[in-house]
Amino acid sequence: MRTIALTNQKGGVGKTTTAVNLAASLAHYGRRVLIVDCDAQTNATLSFGINPAKLEATVYDIFTGEARAEEVIVRYSDRIHVIPSTPDLAGGEAEKAPAASRGQALKQALAGLTGYDFVLVDCPPTLGLINVNVLVFVEEIIIPMQCQFFALQGISLLLKTIDLVQKRVNPRLKITGVLPCMFDGRTTLSREVLEEIGRHFGDKVYRTRIRSNVRLAEAPSFGKPAIEYAPESNGAQDYLSLAREVLGMPDDAKVPAELPKQETA
Ligand SMILES: Nc1ncnc2c1ncn2[C@@H]1O[C@H](COP(=O)(O)OP(=O)(O)O)[C@@H](O)[C@H]1O
Ligand SMILES: [Mg+2]
Repeated sequence: MRTIALTNQKGGVGKTTTAVNLAASLAHYGRRVLIVDCDAQTNATLSFGINPAKLEATVYDIFTGEARAEEVIVRYSDRIHVIPSTPDLAGGEAEKAPAASRGQALKQALAGLTGYDFVLVDCPPTLGLINVNVLVFVEEIIIPMQCQFFALQGISLLLKTIDLVQKRVNPRLKITGVLPCMFDGRTTLSREVLEEIGRHFGDKVYRTRIRSNVRLAEAPSFGKPAIEYAPESNGAQDYLSLAREVLGMPDDAKVPAELPKQETA
């Protein structure tokens, strides 16, 4: 089971869009995926059409130690399951619980969970305790970056946090990849920022660039990933390409003409 955090200290760079659409693309290639929404904005939860107001248990109960993962999981489809978030997470109460304050809450709650090929964790745009709990749990990090001015601003703080967690608690933690998002090859700015990201992260940068694509922004309001809402769109295709890279599939591996049948709840 691979455990991957989508993290970046900035908001609006593509973390949630990547968590949701990478999950759907991995599921498209037959993998079973659990998405853990750790952001109080609940965007990943909403993107799967799940209404946090109607839930009895959420990731909040994991942070307070009141629930185990199995009790909180919502089934979106056969291969996509979600641990939803709640606005309550923003209050900071959950982080005061003993396991959460030691950074161990997610790790403890998800230990022993089986049946998934991937666990993808969507992170809040802050480097607080929630993020630390995520970094203590996962083995891999994907950093989505918006191809805009200031893309690398503040990144050293994120890298320092990762380094600290890696040295002190989680030696297996590593950055698997950096993902250029909202890329527009027609603009000099996008190309320059991509070069800058490349200078900074070298071969950690994915070959896939997620292009700016309005379908990716529209899909959440329909409560489904882009691959279901607009399978032919650049957005859906780019995330399929990312999934192939993440899975180490050959470049020329083609998308099946027909999507595998998925039962949607
Ligand atoms: N490649 C893209 N093309 C167009 N819009 C995008 C793209 N990626 C994300 N967006 C939109 O940009 C906004 C921020 O993206 P989001 O994934 O929520 O960022 P984060 O989780 O880092 O805050 C959202 O409205 C989202 O729909
Ligand atoms: Mg987000």
